[in-house]
Amino acid sequence: MSGAPGYRVHPGGCLTGRLRVPGDKSISHRALILGAVAEGDTAIRGFLEGADCMATLRAFRAMGVAIEGPQAGRVTIRGVGLHGLCAPAGPLDLGNSGTSMRLLAGLLAGQPFPVVLTGDASLSRRPMRRVTDPLAAMGARVETAPDGTAPLRLAGGAALHGIDYPLPVASAQVKSSVLLAGLYAEGRTCITEPAPTRDHTERMLAGFGYPVEVDGPRVCLEGGGRLQGREIDVPADLSSAAFFLVGASIAEGSDLLLEHVGVNPTRAGVIEILRRMGADIEILNPRRAGGEPLADLRVRGAPLRGIRIPPELVPSAIDEFPALFVAAACAAGETVLTGAAELRVKESDRIQVMVDGLQALGGEARPTADGVVIRGGALHGGAVDGRGDHRIAMALAIAGLRTRAPVTISDVRNVETSFPGFVPAATGVGLRIEAIGD
Ligand code: S3P
Repeated sequence: MSGAPGYRVHPGGCLTGRLRVPGDKSISHRALILGAVAEGDTAIRGFLEGADCMATLRAFRAMGVAIEGPQAGRVTIRGVGLHGLCAPAGPLDLGNSGTSMRLLAGLLAGQPFPVVLTGDASLSRRPMRRVTDPLAAMGARVETAPDGTAPLRLAGGAALHGIDYPLPVASAQVKSSVLLAGLYAEGRTCITEPAPTRDHTERMLAGFGYPVEVDGPRVCLEGGGRLQGREIDVPADLSSAAFFLVGASIAEGSDLLLEHVGVNPTRAGVIEILRRMGADIEILNPRRAGGEPLADLRVRGAPLRGIRIPPELVPSAIDEFPALFVAAACAAGETVLTGAAELRVKESDRIQVMVDGLQALGGEARPTADGVVIRGGALHGGAVDGRGDHRIAMALAIAGLRTRAPVTISDVRNVETSFPGFVPAATGVGLRIEAIGD
């Protein structure tokens, strides 16, 4: 054990009952950001009270925005308008949260005051030029560390102008960062995506009354408009539900209902991939809340088979691959993933770290430059390292449903970033998991 708190998962069991996982991380961040610069109040329900979104919330408080809550998922933001933010007293520490850093870099590029954005060791290793390059092209004065990482220093006082930017990587964080800077830019800002990525920013801007034009892969907006505060119902996070979609699929006898889950098509690749592997997932009671589609998902245990994952599905499942790799390790035959080099620059190198984890449990997995090859088979259990990456820790915990011996996972502290209450939630539906360590 690394000394950080860990999990022990006792093998076997199945997942039954019903569960509403915590609120969507991407939507919670965006609700705070747009609510802060809107006019009037924004009342959020279902807000994710995880460490990442709390980092965004604290950043806005440090810039003078009055925010009530969170209290049982409710947050009220007294919007200050696009030009009402104040200079923070010091650097804004965004912890482990890439979304906070990249989206705030865009929003803050056009402010009259300077600001420094910092993060933890993992965030400080992640590439930031993907946002600072287009922001600089818009006229922002922004610096990274010499290797293109945080801290980010925004000088402030820059007059931004719109750009027409073809996104070099399929990244919703980069797209959103440029769009948020575009709110402050003279003229029109347009982005063309190489593949569809999550479109929560576009949907939510429209919900706040800000005109956004979407034409296939191209998104445009004009600077100088206004946002109007509103109510937002945040769906449960499909990325958190994914651990249970996989868990129930691999554990015979499972029958689980995941409630109020966001099923935005730009996010729903995990459902499509699991179904292609043979999973039994029903989408029940489809509805909409605040411009986002949601549904209840019923998942039952089913024999899975390995597949070649179509590369075009990768962006819509980008955060779910740690869980999907566990599904592949429990499937009959081989699963091949390509076109997913982005996984190497997430909270950890998710290709290498998951391969190490599956091998430690007795699985057969081989990394490639932009993906992985996994051959399904029996898992014996053992000790694995969560490497401070929330999604790795939860994915490896779910694997315990199919191991012969217990799985112990170290360094799981960051599960709090996206899934506070993971252990009781998982226990409640049948995972035999306990928290261990200091
Ligand atoms: C996110 C976009 C994705 C995703 C991240 C959240 C967002 O990152 O992995 O967890 O909220 O925009 P990239 O933009 O780097 O693909």
